[in-house]
Amino acid sequence: MTALTRLTLTDFRNYASLTLKLDNRPVCLYGSNGAGKTNLLEAVSQFGPGRGLRAAQLSEMTRHGASAGWTISGTLDDEQKIGIALEGAGPVKRAVRIDGAPASPGDLAERMRLIWLTPAMDGVFRGGASERRRFFDRLVMAHQPSHGGASSRYEKALAERNALLERGHVDPAWADAIEARLAEAGAEIAINRALVLADLQAAIDARPEGHFPKADLSLEGEAEAAAVRGEDFRSVFDLLVDAYRSGRRRDIAASRTLSGPHRSDLGVIHRPSGAPAGDASTGQQKALLIGLVLASAEALSVNGDGPAPLLLLDEAAAHLDPDRRRALYDELAAMRGQAWLTGTDAYLFEAFGARAQRVRVEASSAVLDA
Ligand SMILES: Nc1ncnc2c1ncn2[C@@H]1O[C@H](COP(=O)(O)OP(=O)(O)OP(=O)(O)O)[C@@H](O)[C@H]1O
Ligand SMILES: [Mg+2]
Repeated sequence: MTALTRLTLTDFRNYASLTLKLDNRPVCLYGSNGAGKTNLLEAVSQFGPGRGLRAAQLSEMTRHGASAGWTISGTLDDEQKIGIALEGAGPVKRAVRIDGAPASPGDLAERMRLIWLTPAMDGVFRGGASERRRFFDRLVMAHQPSHGGASSRYEKALAERNALLERGHVDPAWADAIEARLAEAGAEIAINRALVLADLQAAIDARPEGHFPKADLSLEGEAEAAAVRGEDFRSVFDLLVDAYRSGRRRDIAASRTLSGPHRSDLGVIHRPSGAPAGDASTGQQKALLIGLVLASAEALSVNGDGPAPLLLLDEAAAHLDPDRRRALYDELAAMRGQAWLTGTDAYLFEAFGARAQRVRVEASSAVLDA
């Protein structure tokens, strides 16, 4: 089991100070609009790499009017204390502690993984490639925490190459050096994506037929295609180096880099209809997304070397019909990682019965139901 058995916040969003003592069952947060339910999920999401479920700036999450930055701490499985605090003035950063000692985000990733689903992701199949890429990369990161570092290195090299292109002429030696760094991070990204895609598809295929339709996934991108074919790091790297070099003239004309993993897309087919997921109904897309997220959690629990993931589901229950809701809760109650759910009313969680704990969220406080 991986579960937060305590969560403590100070000066985070609308919470001045809050402690929730929990057990390892799913956590159902209910309360009115604006009460602070999503803020609690966002707080938990800070334990993962990146900026959390709203992708907010660090200082944006500090409570308005607070005299210092936010802190979030918790206890994992009743034994390990984990904490994050904002540190520094001006450019703040996150400081991680485990059992009181300074630690890195990587140390945290060895102890907990996070997957989330929010209403903001509802349009992911219909939206642009960049949204799908971000959605998928977050899943990849939950499986492979080093993916975050590779992505940052890629972004940095990409910005340097684009700056060079904008000048209108490139010094070949200079471009070679930047492109080598770009290709190195890019190959790592493509290989991570291909590995996670295979795991995810296997987990989807192994799921019982039921309330959450299956998806057929594919990666659209040259480097990913090579990785999917099983080509090794060196050959994916070489392929990218060639692509950047031979694309220079075109990229100078466009003032930006037009090829590479930052342009790739995730293809998603709604298996029951055989049509692209973007053509499915709103409810079908939601069910497909939930299926993907559940499969991802299963893939991590089954063959990941890491801990089972915590699953944060913001407003996932409200839009499901009662049968689907029950099916979702049955799966969540059986998972090895704790699930956190939000909804405006306690009745939405009735089908959990005694298999979940309920927390009433109200005017910047949150209280566990007796
Ligand atoms: N930095 C901050 N300081 C203080 N309050 C904040 C801060 N950021 C957001 N809030 C407040 O937090 C409140 C609750 O937000 P949250 O999104 O968690 O509500 P919710 O319970 O999820 O509501 P809904 O049911 O509508 O989704 C909002 O009223 C917002 O103004
Ligand atoms: Mg909310």
